[in-house]
Amino acid sequence: MVKVKIQENSTQGKKKLFIKSYGCQMNAYDAVRMADLMAPHGYAVVDNEKGADLVILNTCHIRDKADEKVFSDLGRFKKHGKPDTLYAVGGCIGQAMGKKVMQRSNAVSIVFGPQTYHRLPEFIAKAQVKDENGKFTKVTDTDFPELEKFDSLPTQKADGATAFLSIQEGCDKFCTYCVVPYTRGAEISRTVDAVLKDAENLVSQGVKDITLLGQNVNAYNGLNNNDEASSLAKLIKKLAKIEGLERIRFTTSHPANIDDDLIDLFKTEPKLMPYLHLPVQSGSDKILKAMNRSHTVESYLETIRKVREKCPDIAISGDFIVGFPNETEEDYMDTLKAVAQVNYATSYSFAYSPRPGTPAAVMQNQVDDVTKKERLAGLQALLESQQEAFAKKFIGKTVKVLVTGKGKKQNQLRGHSEHNLVVNFEGGDRLINEIVEVKIEGAYLKSLLGILL
Ligand code: SAH
Ligand code: SF4
Ligand code: F3S
Repeated sequence: MVKVKIQENSTQGKKKLFIKSYGCQMNAYDAVRMADLMAPHGYAVVDNEKGADLVILNTCHIRDKADEKVFSDLGRFKKHGKPDTLYAVGGCIGQAMGKKVMQRSNAVSIVFGPQTYHRLPEFIAKAQVKDENGKFTKVTDTDFPELEKFDSLPTQKADGATAFLSIQEGCDKFCTYCVVPYTRGAEISRTVDAVLKDAENLVSQGVKDITLLGQNVNAYNGLNNNDEASSLAKLIKKLAKIEGLERIRFTTSHPANIDDDLIDLFKTEPKLMPYLHLPVQSGSDKILKAMNRSHTVESYLETIRKVREKCPDIAISGDFIVGFPNETEEDYMDTLKAVAQVNYATSYSFAYSPRPGTPAAVMQNQVDDVTKKERLAGLQALLESQQEAFAKKFIGKTVKVLVTGKGKKQNQLRGHSEHNLVVNFEGGDRLINEIVEVKIEGAYLKSLLGILL
């Protein structure tokens, strides 16, 4: 889902490190932190696997296809490797499969999970001790040490004006289709101080736009200096005081954890951007219950209404699963009806994929693949028409764009609007990392086109 950009540095005299990250923003963040971690150990990041000394696959286990992709990539990378290239599998497949990863691909020497990657230098040293056959030692570590990684990682190196910052990890919700509670562990929040320190560090390096990350980011309840639990709303208010930080976003939220203080901030805190990713998954209460979602369609729609009262033009984003076990045509139509009431600015929708070890995988009445595909296509057509309609509303308007880099065409720059839409326009490179005003003249499914004012 998320393309990770890790700062490449000069490889002269250094070992080459290639990291491929799959899956969500949390994984993207972890990949960036792995690069930070390995830099003082003499590793420079390269943008492909050819000739790399160390290849890390930072994997995702969320759907069947995510698994398949990793193992087919591993086969390809191995062909381009050197005899002594080390292959490490981290992330959620590493956590879920452990040693079994090595059974599926004998090229892999190191397996670790999302909560142990700070131990990578240790794993590498252990793996490099070769056995009598000249083979690397196999190392596996899938512990869940609470927050230990944050104490062990070096300070985060910024790359440009936008950054992810993890404030909350893990999930206690146990939706019946989902592997995340098993791969990421229990919900845990970092302290307010730790988050503020990381944010200040990023801003001192030129970061202007921070996305706070968590599997259930709005369940954030980190301790403040008086050992009291702080809400996400309180944390955002503190972060907003940091001079030079211009934009704050957070993702992913769970509908059951949205409180009024947080909703109010969309009106009262100018640094909080008008964008909310709030997955609903299904528009049928029967399916939501079977999914163990702990919200109803109506409570979700009520939250959206409240948010729009405070911020009428907010960009709402959602996640959907079609073809969950027992989903009838009627349940599916209910999802389309709910979508019609929301008008999404952007969305992520998936065909249900049975995951090993989750309750839904063994439920009766699994939906066949053809039906799933048809339902997904129908839902996506509706979501895309909403997405285009949302983008078109900006035609003729002036939007503030944080320029993140060059666009695809010559002399073109690319950036993000406050509503998190990609904006392309003509301009000089000196504007990269600046916030500029752009008048929008064209709107497409995935981007806006404008002219610099
Ligand atoms: N913590 C977040 C996101 C978790 S994973 C949340 O609760 O919203 C991202 C999305 O993947 C989920 O929102 C869901 O839509 C989708 N997903 C998770 N498990 C899935 C499965 N087994 N099959 C299909 N989609 C799945
Ligand atoms: Fe998965 Fe549900 Fe947790 Fe989200 S809230 S990570 S979908 S179990
Ligand atoms: Fe995938 Fe793990 Fe994220 S399963 S979606 S990388 S939490």
